[in-house]
Amino acid sequence: MSSKRRTITILGLAGSPRYGGNTELLLDAFLAGATDAGGKVEKRRLAQLSIAGCIACDRCQGTGYCIVKDDFQPIDERLVAADVIALAAPLFFANLPAQVKALVDRSQCQWVRKFLRKDPLPVSTAGYTRRRGIFLCVAGAINEDFSGVMRTVKYFFDLYETDFWADLRFEDIVAKGAIEAHPTALRTAFNLGVRAVQESVFHDSIAACDHPQV
Ligand SMILES: Cc1cc2nc3c(=O)[nH]c(=O)nc-3n(C[C@H](O)[C@H](O)[C@H](O)COP(=O)(O)O)c2cc1C
Repeated sequence: MSSKRRTITILGLAGSPRYGGNTELLLDAFLAGATDAGGKVEKRRLAQLSIAGCIACDRCQGTGYCIVKDDFQPIDERLVAADVIALAAPLFFANLPAQVKALVDRSQCQWVRKFLRKDPLPVSTAGYTRRRGIFLCVAGAINEDFSGVMRTVKYFFDLYETDFWADLRFEDIVAKGAIEAHPTALRTAFNLGVRAVQESVFHDSIAACDHPQV
């Protein structure tokens, strides 16, 4: 534990193509909490970006970088820079919406950097070797199976040296804005944002952080 207080950079990725929808409301609440706790927040809507799918050309095996130039590169840079990564996305056919999955698949070049080239990831903005990952998810159905999406998100976080620190999952939320009628969801997301920053600021490393029960 270090006594040096750090400014924590939080990257919030809104993954739903429905702007202002349930997962984006959760993300906004989380980011408001993170801001309240003194964090520096950046938000990107993935559906507003142009990120093509991976074409499996394997050219990244030569350099560690993707030859397809689009909005992937700036997001890749922000993922490396972030101390906390909050991904918000609804369940679409038991997994991530295509716009988010495109980002995940394009991260194959980071897989190459990490596992084939064994390039160490640069430290985050606050100087951490490990980042803190949060997944905010909503499903329309009751008793949904989140295991597929959780696994995909974990693989993605792993690439960017990010511990899967917390997730919030809500079921039976269908219509746009329905999450606002949930008795605790937005407050819980806000509190998690506060906690994500507060528990990061004084740490030398956030590698061994607990997965909080929320
Ligand atoms: C293309 C599509 C696929 C969906 N697939 C599922 C699913 O597999 N399971 C489920 O419970 N809900 C599914 N839903 C419902 C959404 O998860 C739900 O409406 C959610 O509240 C949307 O969140 P958003 O407002 O952030 O977009 C699907 C919705 C769409 C549009």
